[in-house]
Amino acid sequence: MADKTYVLAIDQGTTSTRAMIFDHAGQVVSSDQVEHEQIFPRAGWVEHDGLEIWGNTRKVIGGALSKANLNSGNIAAVGITNQRETALVWDRHTGQPVYNAIVWQDVRTQKIVDKLAADGGEERYKDVCGLPLATYFSGPKITWILDNVEGAREKAEAGDLIFGNTDTWVLWNLTGGAENDGEHVTDVTNASRTMLMDLSTLTWDESIAADMGIPMSMLPTIKSSSEIYGECKPGVLKGVPVAGILGDQQAATFGQACLEKGMAKNTYGTGNFMLLNTGTEQVPSENGLLTTICYKLGEEPVVYALEGSIAVTGSLVQWVRDNLGMISSAPEIEELAKKVDDNGGAYFVPAFSGLFAPHWRPDARGALVGLTRYVNKGHIARAVLESTAFQTREVSDAMDADSGVPLTELKVDGGMVVNETLMQFQADILGVDVVRPKVAETTALGAAYAAGLAVGYWANTDDITKNWGEDKRWSPSMEDGERERLMRNWKKAVTKTLDWVD
Ligand code: G3P
Repeated sequence: MADKTYVLAIDQGTTSTRAMIFDHAGQVVSSDQVEHEQIFPRAGWVEHDGLEIWGNTRKVIGGALSKANLNSGNIAAVGITNQRETALVWDRHTGQPVYNAIVWQDVRTQKIVDKLAADGGEERYKDVCGLPLATYFSGPKITWILDNVEGAREKAEAGDLIFGNTDTWVLWNLTGGAENDGEHVTDVTNASRTMLMDLSTLTWDESIAADMGIPMSMLPTIKSSSEIYGECKPGVLKGVPVAGILGDQQAATFGQACLEKGMAKNTYGTGNFMLLNTGTEQVPSENGLLTTICYKLGEEPVVYALEGSIAVTGSLVQWVRDNLGMISSAPEIEELAKKVDDNGGAYFVPAFSGLFAPHWRPDARGALVGLTRYVNKGHIARAVLESTAFQTREVSDAMDADSGVPLTELKVDGGMVVNETLMQFQADILGVDVVRPKVAETTALGAAYAAGLAVGYWANTDDITKNWGEDKRWSPSMEDGERERLMRNWKKAVTKTLDWVD
C-alpha cells in the first residue's frame, strides 16, 4: 500500500464546493473548486440543488486527487466542512431530495418563526440552544419543507425522509448513500445551528422538535467533530475514513489555531463570522451574539464559542458584480475603491436578509444613504467595502461587552482578506491590529486537522499551533475622532434600513 501522507478536506460552501489536500505541515498540496447555482425563486428566498452539490463534490475530489497525481492510497483521512444551517430533506431509500436545500440566508420562514415566538418571545429557546428565534437556523426550514412539499409530512412521519445540513448530505453520500446504507450523522457544531440541540447535553431536544413539528426520526446522530464516522464506499476515495466534521466557521476557528479561551478569528466569506473561543463554559449573550459550539475532539470536553454572524459582506461585492454590473470581477471592487480617498459621505447597509448580529432585525432591508451629486462609482465601491468593516466593528463591540475582555488583535481569513484596502480600513475602524495567517485556507485546513487528529496523522493540537504562521499585519493609523465620526454615521445609516417589511 502507498504511503498515506496527506489529508483531504471537502469544503461545501455557500457559493462553491472545494476539495483541498494538505500535507503534515498544513500546506496546500492540491485543490479543486466548482461553483453551484444560486437559485432565487422569490425575493428573500435562496436555494441550492442538493444533487448538483453532491455531483460537484465528486468532481472536486477527483480533480484535487488527479492534479497532485494521488489516489485513495495516499489519503489518511477525509474531513468535511460546510455552510451551516442550510437545510436539505431527502428520501433515505432513493437518495432524492424532496425539495432544494433552503439556504441559511433565506428568510421565507419568518411566519413560522413569528408563530413560535408568539408563545414566549424570540428568546424562548435561547437557554437551551443558545440561539434566538430567527429565519437563519435550520429547524424552521425543515418545518417549512414538511408543511409545503406535498406528501412530505406523511413520508417523514413514516420514517422515510431524513434531514441534514450539507455536512450530513455529503457524509451520507460519501459513505454509501441509499444503496450502501450511508451514515446519517452530523457533528456537534452543525447540530448547534439547528435550534434543535441542547447545548449542555449535546443531544436533540425533543420538545423543541415537537414545537416545530419535526419527527425525531429525521434527525442525524450527533457525534464529536473528530472521530471516524465511517469509510468512503464507492468512488475514488473507497476505503478512506471520514474522520472530521466542523461547520465552516468553527473549522476556520480551528484552522486559525484559536484553541485557547479568549482567542478569536473573523472570516470574510459570503458573510462575516467572528468566533471567540470561550473554553469549556457557555457564555450567554446579552448583546446579540450567539452561544454556539466551537468544537469537540473525540471524548474530550466540548469547547464553546460566542459568535457574531453577519449575513452579507462578500456577497455584497458579488451583488455589485452580478446584479448591477458595476464591476466584472470581485477584485475590481478594490481598484475602483482606490480611485477615491474616502466614501464621499455614502454608506451602504446590505440588510438583504434582514440584519443579523448584533441587531437581529428581520424587518430590515438594504439601503444606500448619504448620496449627493458628488458621489461617484469609486465612493460606492468604498462604501461597499467599508460596510464589511463597520459591521465587524459592531460585532466586536458586542463581543467585548459579552466577554468583558477587549479585543487586542483580530486574526482574519477568507476570500476578502486579499483586499488590502479593506484590511487597512478594518484595522482603522477597530483600532487594533488585523493579522492574516500564511495559510489563508483556514476553513478547509480546520476540517483537515479534525480528521487528521482522529486517525493519528497529527499527534495533538500542538501540531496545529506549530503550523500557524503570520503572513501580514495591518495596524490602525486613523485618528480616534475620525473613527468615532464614521461609526456614528454608520449607526445612523443602519437606522434607515429598519421597518421595511410590512
Ligand atoms: O452560517 C453560514 C456560514 O456557515 C456560511 O459561510 O463562508 O459559506 O459564507 P460561507
